[in-house]
Amino acid sequence: MTAFATPSFFFREAALQIDAEKERQALGDRLPAHVGIIMDGNGRWATKRGMPRAFGHRAGTERLRGIIRLSSDLGIRALSLYAFSTENWKRPKAEVDALFGLFMEYFVNEVEELHTNRVRIRVLGDVEGLPANVGAAVRAAEKKTAENDGLRLNVALNYGSRAETVRAVQSLAREAASGALSPDAISEETLLSRLDTAGLPELDLLIRTGGEQRLSNFLLLQAAYAELAFVDTLWPDYSDELYMDTLRDYARRNRRFGGLK
Ligand code: FPP
Repeated sequence: MTAFATPSFFFREAALQIDAEKERQALGDRLPAHVGIIMDGNGRWATKRGMPRAFGHRAGTERLRGIIRLSSDLGIRALSLYAFSTENWKRPKAEVDALFGLFMEYFVNEVEELHTNRVRIRVLGDVEGLPANVGAAVRAAEKKTAENDGLRLNVALNYGSRAETVRAVQSLAREAASGALSPDAISEETLLSRLDTAGLPELDLLIRTGGEQRLSNFLLLQAAYAELAFVDTLWPDYSDELYMDTLRDYARRNRRFGGLK
């Protein structure tokens, strides 16, 4: 896979560069195929600096570039990011508006470069429940990048694992009620194939930054056998080097999937 080659990236983050090819060779097939990230800590990062929380969300969005580029350069096949949960609507309207402003900016300004780097975008969650302009922008990004063969970048927006499961079960129930599907034919695979992550590799590693140790309704079924990594660093400070440390730690783990090896 070609490295992200936009000069502005390298200019801005020159000091943080990692030799992805060397890391890739060293870790080989011990790298995860699919990484999920709960990007927590933006609000605290801003508050510590005496700034409004939205400032932290902007810094958090900036950090995405490096993480996406490194994931792509390492040959990680899928990266799923928790950007807005079904519970985040409870936040003050000003913060919700600021987040949606950032999502719009992101999907309008960054997609061209992601597309150039063969990234394929998918939105996880209830897109119908998003503001119309955001829904249209994310659908356009999905459509534009649909044929790309590089990193699968999944952005969870208005996402909750329980709501996702309800949608999957409703779709199975509708098919069963119509007579097209026998209830006895419903298997684990059938259920997983109705989730928003259908067709993506198994989730191998779920990272949460910001010091809390919980899953907050993110990819609960997909995480059945995922390795969990809880990192104290606040998301805007989660550097490429810290991400690499998490990946190296994952590579050292002994995954047994319920067996004994
Ligand atoms: C959690 O931090 C973070 C969020 C609710 C938003 C995450 C969103 C981004 C990083 C922007 C992503 C943008 C795109 C385009 C995908 P928090 O606010 O709960 O932090 P706190 O725990 O310190 O309060």
